[in-house]
Amino acid sequence: MSVFSSSIRRIARFSMLALGVVFAGSIAAQSSDQLVAERMKPIGEVCLAGQACAGGAAPMVLAQAATAEFSAAAQYTQSCAMCHTPGVAGAPRLDNAAEWAARVAAKGRDTIVQNAITGINAMPPRGMCMTCTDENMAALVDYMLSQGQ
Ligand code: HEC
Repeated sequence: MSVFSSSIRRIARFSMLALGVVFAGSIAAQSSDQLVAERMKPIGEVCLAGQACAGGAAPMVLAQAATAEFSAAAQYTQSCAMCHTPGVAGAPRLDNAAEWAARVAAKGRDTIVQNAITGINAMPPRGMCMTCTDENMAALVDYMLSQGQ
């Protein structure tokens, strides 16, 4: 076998490899486009849980819509209750109206919201709720204040 033909073969093998990479890349691009199209479907086309669904991505759309909606009561249970229901480490208890009233009187509601966001003493920043926005934290504080009354 001549040196010439073996190097031709090497080049051919290399270009097949390169072609394979490009091809795989285009499949990946296509399927993510489909996924985006699936997510952008109007809500009426999304099938509900329990119904037969044509597209596998549809239940994901519903799950995203569900998590986007913020519920202060549900988030309190998930992120704040572990300390604020029993009153761990000096945390004002949810049902301790007198302590909440004293805090509001001393600092004002907005400062209390800010302290909940940045953390204060044994209270960790955002109560360790990494997904809670500033607005979510304000809603949580208002929920806690309303429960104590
Ligand atoms: C690890 C326990 C812990 C968790 C979890 C926690 N807190 Fe607290 N929190 C505390 C403690 C302790 C204090 C009292 C801090 C102080 O005033 O010394 C406190 C105080 C507060 C205050 C009063 C702040 C002030 O300025 O008086 C608010 C409001 C508050 N927490 C909101 C929340 C919210 C909302 C969540 C859930 C997202 C949460 N906390 C989760 C421990 C916790």
